[in-house]
Amino acid sequence: MQRIRFSAIAATAIMAITPVYSGTSGSFAPLRFTAVEASAETVYAKNTEGFVTRMYNVVLGRNPDATGLKNWTAKLNDHTATASDIIYGFFCSSEYKGKNKSNEEIVTDCYKAMLDRDPDSAGKANWLARLNVGMTTMAVCKGFVGSSEFKGLCSSYGIDPGTISLSYARDENYERTYFVYRLYANCLGRTPDITGLENWCKSLKSGTAGTKIAQGFIFSDEYKGKNSSNTEFVTMLYNTILGRAPDSAGLNSWVNQLDIGRSRQFTANGFLYSSEFKGQCSTAGINLTNAPSSSEYCYGAAPTRYSRDGLTYIDGMLIANKSYSLPSDFNPGLDATCQSQFRKLVSGAAAQGLNIYLSSGFRSYSYQAQLYSNYVSWNGQAAADTFSARAGHSEHQSGLAIDVNTINSSFEGTPEAIWLAAHCHEYGFIIRYPKGKQDITGYKYEPWHIRYVGTDLSYKIHESGLTVEEYYGITSQYANG
Ligand code: DAL
Ligand code: ZN
Repeated sequence: MQRIRFSAIAATAIMAITPVYSGTSGSFAPLRFTAVEASAETVYAKNTEGFVTRMYNVVLGRNPDATGLKNWTAKLNDHTATASDIIYGFFCSSEYKGKNKSNEEIVTDCYKAMLDRDPDSAGKANWLARLNVGMTTMAVCKGFVGSSEFKGLCSSYGIDPGTISLSYARDENYERTYFVYRLYANCLGRTPDITGLENWCKSLKSGTAGTKIAQGFIFSDEYKGKNSSNTEFVTMLYNTILGRAPDSAGLNSWVNQLDIGRSRQFTANGFLYSSEFKGQCSTAGINLTNAPSSSEYCYGAAPTRYSRDGLTYIDGMLIANKSYSLPSDFNPGLDATCQSQFRKLVSGAAAQGLNIYLSSGFRSYSYQAQLYSNYVSWNGQAAADTFSARAGHSEHQSGLAIDVNTINSSFEGTPEAIWLAAHCHEYGFIIRYPKGKQDITGYKYEPWHIRYVGTDLSYKIHESGLTVEEYYGITSQYANG
């Protein structure tokens, strides 16, 4: 007699819960779907036939048909089938599937069939979670047939328990499958289709980074089409990436970041590169990409806020222009945050093969006075006022401005200048004197002069396309012309 191989494909072909005899002329007994009156007290003969009868009763809820009983019993007796083969055959059968049992009922059936008892609540929740994320009934059965309880049951009938082998990637690792399930359920808001679930599990198994797959879902047209609010987006990230509801402090903080202009990519990266997610991935055997060197990571706090007379702040920003001056003894040096953010900016540019360096940072009142007076003597006051600040009016005295590279018009249009204009806001800087805004800022275009305002504000100002004067509705004019 040919040995039956219960591969997943073969098993689904078992229509009548009888072993499949290839090439035999054996007729299949008609199915009998009679309800079984067997109760917990039913006593089964402690032999192979008793075992098979019990499986018919417990799993299919009916008495065995004569052929099925005979064939399965024969298989067990000549050791061409194990108890696990029967479990596989029954739970994978069209007859069982046709009952359309709920996941909860399937788990209960597993407990009854393989452990001969009702489920305990912790165990039930554990197995139910597996079915609910899309793992197969067979993955659950595999867990049961490996238990000592099942082995004990088999031994009481004198049967080899055997094992079940699985062939789906989604059945191999609950944590991994649960991650893919969350991408569908929490990000896209729908139950995964089995093919999609299986393919993403396979992809993760073969080493594709979870980071990449998650980004594919989070930035998919399907999710974008939902037009979620910032709060909905962050809540989705908690549920999808971390697999938990947001805590209110975390939610508020991330939503605030988005509200002040940080990108959704930045926010998603915050979750994808969090230690919490990394920990989960290491348990699940999911690879991650390295955190990007992207400037999106260069969050910079607001600069130091000095508390003293003679300084003008608007919305937390220290203003220094032709209308608003700094006291002559205000001598803070280069702001520490500005300096560290500038270092990040330099690295970000270097990663693109660009060389940005500091040419002029903090300038004291007296140094600025000297500088301005030189320009006046060389170019005349009217011309000097278009590119050099009078003492007490220079942003350089605030410790929050930096001139980079070559401080003249030859810098304009260089790759460094182009990169600076496109990216300095990601580090908390703005191009303070943009082109064509001389009437508003009081100065000619200075592509080399960047002003540190912190990323909260730099994103807003950058995205507004406005100068500081326009953004705050202030002037930049000397009181005495
Ligand atoms: N060049 C700028 C306007 C300054 O002197 O501060
Ligand atoms: Zn400057």
